[in-house]
Parts: sequence; C-alpha cells; structure tokens
Amino acid sequence: MRWHILGAGAIGCLFAERLARAGCDVTLLVRTEAQLEGLNRLDNIVSVQIDNTWHLARVDAETVADSSAIQHLLVCTKAYDGLDAINAISPRLAPDAQIVLLQNGYGHQQKSALALAPRPIWAGVTTSGARRTGPFRVVQSGEGETQIGRLNLPEGADHGLPDGWSTLDHRVVLNGDINRALWQKLAINAVINPLTALHGCRNGELLSPVYRQELTTLCTEIENVASVCTQPLFDTTLLEAVLEVAENTAQNRSSMLEDLSAGRPTEIEQITGFICAAARELGEETPLNTELLNAVRFEQRRKNREEQA
Ligand code: PAF
Repeated sequence: MRWHILGAGAIGCLFAERLARAGCDVTLLVRTEAQLEGLNRLDNIVSVQIDNTWHLARVDAETVADSSAIQHLLVCTKAYDGLDAINAISPRLAPDAQIVLLQNGYGHQQKSALALAPRPIWAGVTTSGARRTGPFRVVQSGEGETQIGRLNLPEGADHGLPDGWSTLDHRVVLNGDINRALWQKLAINAVINPLTALHGCRNGELLSPVYRQELTTLCTEIENVASVCTQPLFDTTLLEAVLEVAENTAQNRSSMLEDLSAGRPTEIEQITGFICAAARELGEETPLNTELLNAVRFEQRRKNREEQA
C-alpha cells in the first residue's frame, strides 16, 4: 500500500516516517525539481529525531506535476495552500482514493471534501509536536495523538480508519464527531497563535497575568460564535482549555509566530479570519478577533515589503 504525502513540512515528514515504519510505501509530493533533487541528494531519506534517537525512512518522491495514479493521499500543507494543491493533483486521484486532511483552520476541509466527493475523506487534528530543522529533517517534540474522522460518511457506511492507519506505532483515535475536534483546535489556535505572533512570545508566556484580560475577551468572543453556530466546544471553558495547552506547550513557538517571524504567509485567514467571517454572517460582533486579524495582516504585509526592499 502506498501513501502519497502532499506537504513535506514538519507534520508531513513526521507522518512519512510513521507510515514507512508501519510498512507502507511512501511518496512525497514536492512542488519543484529543486526539492526533488534536494531529497535525492539525501538518498531519499526523511530523518525524524524521537527522544534523542534518529529514525530514518526511505521514501520515494515525485513533483506534483508527475502523472502516476494516487490511491492514498495525506494532505499536510498549510491551510491556505490545501485547496489549490489538491486541485492541481486531482486528475491523478483514483475514483475511490482515500484522502486524509491534516491541516489547521476550519472551512477549507469541507470545501476539499466537496471538490473530491464521492471519494472517502477523513479530516484530522494532531497534538504531535514537530520542528523542522532542515529539509526533510524533523525533531519530534511530543508524540501526542491524532484524531481522525470521516467528513463525508454516506448513511450506513462503515466508519473505519484509512488503510494502514491502524498499524501506526502512534495513537490514532477514530472520532465520530471530527467537526467538533476541528472546532476545538480552531478555537485554541485562534487564541494562542495570533497573540504569540503579535507579542513575539512563546506559548507559556501567555500564562502571565499581563495577558489574562486579552485571553478572557478572545475566549468569550469565540465561545459566543461557536454557540451561535450550535457547535459545542470543550466540557470546560475555552479559557481553561487554552491555559492547559499553553502550559503543556510552554516552550513552543507557535506556528504563526514562526511563520510571521520568517516572513512566510500565516494561517490567520483560515483561523481568526474564519471566526470573524462566521460572526459577520450571523450578525455577531468579534471586536478583539477582528483587531488581531487586521494586526496580523498588517504585520504580514510589512514583513513582505521589508523582504522585497
Ligand atoms: O499552531 C500551533 O503552533 C499549535 O497548534 C499550538 C497548539 C498553538 C501549539 O504551539
């Protein structure tokens, strides 16, 4: 069984190694010939450091422009790239291809599911932590677990895991309400990511009393939007859930902080942008979320101009 992986960043490489370790053939789909040559120079080896031990996985690689058929596809691209990347390779997807979307944000997964129907699509969220230290080289900071569930399950169909995923040496939990898990991750990201990106701080620094009012207001706005969308979030308050994640990932620099500092596009539109758009549609106010959305957009443009100067 072969899994093609779109998006060879930290999470893509982590799953490439996990799938290879479970006995699957793995093909990384890269964008450019230069990336393909880069991987060839590494003897097609993806390296993942887990608890100070390097795990090496030999993978195959193709550019997205290749033409071989795809039967199993794992999408780990940034949220803003997913739809375009999927559209670009959709002619290669078998009519019954299995597709797993492991991306941040909300809304784009449902659009991908519509575009790819009637193929079986799973969406997922992972608490695995990983940091890219070079091309196809990743340090795992936490094993975590991955929840996945079907987005488009026809009435009466079997709600199982995708091929090969039950044999992963990593905890994969089948979630019958994956939309709730996606919303939970969205809500956490909508608090931690823009705040750490704009204040230039690690996740744990948000525990300081200095940020408590901002955290509380953001959480209230997001809980209100979720509730108007009739979407349950956590059994605790969102603030409690955010504080727990900030504590458990205290040393992490959030993905948005990393992207913004490196002058890369961020996922702000698919995270805070989604919350604000949903609120607008429902006639709800989200002043602090809107302020953060505009502030991150502004910073992105400023960085971009700096880079072009
Ligand atoms: O996007 C991220 O960095 C992570 O999802 C989270 C939970 C904020 C931890 O760093």
